Amino acid sequence: MFEGTAIHHWLCWGALYLLAAGLALPSETRRPCPQSCHCNTVLLEVNCSDGQLSKVPGDLPQDAKRMNLTHNNIKTLAHQQFQTLTQLLDLDLSDNLLTAIEMDAFLGLQNLLILRLARNHLKIIPAGVFTGLTHLQLLDISANEILVFLDFNFYELPALQSIKAEDNDLVFISHQAFSGLSSVKELHLDGCNLTAVPTEALTQLSVLRKLHFRRLTLTALPNYSFHHLVHLKELVISYCPRLETLSENSLFGLNLTSLTIRRCNLTAVPYIPLHHLVYLIHLDLSFNPITYIQGNMLRDLFRLEELHLIGGSLLGIEIRAFTGLTHFKLLNVSRNLLNTLEVDVFHSVDTLKTLGLDNNPLACDCRLLWVIRRRQYLDFGGESPTCTTSVQLQGWNFLDFSQSELAGLLTCRPPQILNHKPQVVKVDQGHTVVFYCNAEGDPLPSVSWLNPQQRPLSPTGRIRALSNGSLEVRYAQPEDSGTYLCVASNAAGNDSMLVSLHVRVFPSSTTNLFHLEGWFAFPSASPGVKGNQKLPFDVKTLLIAATIGLMSFFSSVSVCFIFMFLWSKTKGQIKHTATIAYVPRSTMSRSNVGKGNYMETSRFTMKLI
Ligand SMILES: *[C@@H]1O[C@H](CO)[C@@H](O)[C@H](O)[C@H]1NC(C)=O
Ligand SMILES: *[C@@H]1O[C@H](CO)[C@@H](O)[C@H](O)[C@H]1NC(C)=O
Ligand SMILES: *[C@@H]1O[C@H](CO)[C@@H](O)[C@H](O)[C@H]1NC(C)=O
Ligand SMILES: *[C@@H]1O[C@H](CO)[C@@H](O)[C@H](O)[C@H]1NC(C)=O
Ligand SMILES: *[C@@H]1O[C@H](CO)[C@@H](O)[C@H](O)[C@H]1NC(C)=O
Ligand SMILES: *[C@@H]1O[C@H](CO)[C@@H](O)[C@H](O)[C@H]1NC(C)=O
Ligand SMILES: *[C@@H]1O[C@H](CO)[C@@H](O)[C@H](O)[C@H]1NC(C)=O
Ligand SMILES: *[C@@H]1O[C@H](CO)[C@@H](O)[C@H](O)[C@H]1NC(C)=O
Repeated sequence: MFEGTAIHHWLCWGALYLLAAGLALPSETRRPCPQSCHCNTVLLEVNCSDGQLSKVPGDLPQDAKRMNLTHNNIKTLAHQQFQTLTQLLDLDLSDNLLTAIEMDAFLGLQNLLILRLARNHLKIIPAGVFTGLTHLQLLDISANEILVFLDFNFYELPALQSIKAEDNDLVFISHQAFSGLSSVKELHLDGCNLTAVPTEALTQLSVLRKLHFRRLTLTALPNYSFHHLVHLKELVISYCPRLETLSENSLFGLNLTSLTIRRCNLTAVPYIPLHHLVYLIHLDLSFNPITYIQGNMLRDLFRLEELHLIGGSLLGIEIRAFTGLTHFKLLNVSRNLLNTLEVDVFHSVDTLKTLGLDNNPLACDCRLLWVIRRRQYLDFGGESPTCTTSVQLQGWNFLDFSQSELAGLLTCRPPQILNHKPQVVKVDQGHTVVFYCNAEGDPLPSVSWLNPQQRPLSPTGRIRALSNGSLEVRYAQPEDSGTYLCVASNAAGNDSMLVSLHVRVFPSSTTNLFHLEGWFAFPSASPGVKGNQKLPFDVKTLLIAATIGLMSFFSSVSVCFIFMFLWSKTKGQIKHTATIAYVPRSTMSRSNVGKGNYMETSRFTMKLI
């Protein structure tokens, strides 16, 4: 069999080698270069790439330091296949058809530092395969078809520093899989199909510095996913289209300098899971549907230098978003939905060197003046930003403006509250009052309200600031009386207006009607400025209204009967019953009355007088 002959072959050559060594020939005996290989006798490289080999050639030069067997058709590696190549440092078997590797296949390669088995068809790593590779530093098994890492798979590799295992179909990593790997600094599990973080297995990799994951099938990153990885500096998680949240303590125990969570489904910056990463320098959250970066939430990351959030759904970066980040150098928010980027977002723009702002619907007004003013000092990357939404400056590139044009073109108009008259509204207890505060300006000002205690009012609650700028006080109470302040502000300034509200205490005799009245007053009493003139309905009014309604109903019915009575008299027929068909009102209002197209008309029969 192949295996046997190979062994014999090797033994034979091995014996010859020993003999040669024993004779201590001054000039080393060199084997001829195998056919279909190229041997570089100076660099001691053997290149058998693309040699149509279906097995490892038997007559390899023993002094070789680098061996390239890539792009061949090698299907298996036999027991002690490379035994004589004791000088070998680098063995590359990538791009073959390897499906099986026998036990001890690499035995004897005690100086090997790099072993590449990428792009083969390995499905499993049997125990004992890597025996003898005591100095191996890099193992590349990427792009195979490995489904699981079993316990002690890498046990014989004490010097291993880097494992490249991307693009396998890994679905499971058993708890002891990385056992014995006390020197691994870099682990790439990109392109795997893991449904959970292999937390337990990772605890074995106590000196790990870089960890890359791709295609994790998770919706939330669980708490304590990476604890014990105290030396980890770089964590990359990408292509997790279902990952929506990071649990509060998911990054607990880590002390990262670089974190990437790309192409996942995060809708917000994970402020809380991140906040203990005080040594973080590089943060990349690109291609996540994040809509806002909130103010004052990243201040714990005070060493942060770079934030990449390319291709997200950013609508805004709030004022003070980067407060506390005194070393901030790079912001790349290309390809988002940003209208603007205000200077107050940054701790200081003096440290900012690189700004990716292209492919955003930018409104060029005074808020972006700072970017254009600093354009000589800023690196805009491949594309410089352009004005998109302002009609006048449509398509202008940030580098197109001349210094003299700037101040005249990129302008803002400070807010102005329209109808700026003092509003004084007097209402009875229980009424609803709406105060208007319409403001204009460029950019459109935001309107906020302060209550008589000078506290800002929220969009919810009984007294609330509506999104259209109005203030609504529902079921006004005497204690709501006082002066409210409307403030309209934009980048160019602010304008304010005072309104006052006096709520009259309801007479005590009718307090029990309070709720009923409040309810009825609700739709009509949104008078805004003219709030106090409406008298409330009371029970009397209600009764009268109800009586009138009933009376009109009965009178129309009676008229109808009288008409029918007279009609039957004139016809001379004596008919003492009448059948009246009716349909529910809702049907009636939708379809045309009298078309005969309602299937279920109800009927009742009546005796006529
Ligand atoms: C090895 O050989 C292949 C094919 O002959 C060639 O493409 C490649 O560049 C060679 N590599 C080196 C390091 O010489
Ligand atoms: C891994 O995921 C890819 C992409 O989702 C899929 O095509 C492949 O079939 C999966 N493999 C396994 C073994 O589940
Ligand atoms: C994660 O830990 C936090 C804090 O201890 C806890 O509030 C939260 O419920 C945990 N989340 C999960 C998914 O266990
Ligand atoms: C991403 O999250 C949204 C909800 O936030 C959800 O509707 C969508 O299905 C998620 N996408 C995937 C691929 O799971
Ligand atoms: C965290 O990492 C930084 C350098 O990246 C190091 O200086 C610091 O001592 C580490 N802190 C802890 C608690 O390990
Ligand atoms: C921002 O990222 C995009 C995409 O990676 C890149 O093309 C661009 O050059 C970057 N911009 C800057 C200013 O670094
Ligand atoms: C704002 O909305 C409230 C309630 O929807 C409405 O009563 C009020 O008239 C609106 N104000 C303006 C100025 O449109
Ligand atoms: C309004 O602008 C003035 C200066 O023009 C400033 O002192 C004041 O703090 C601003 N008020 C608000 C609420 O922004």
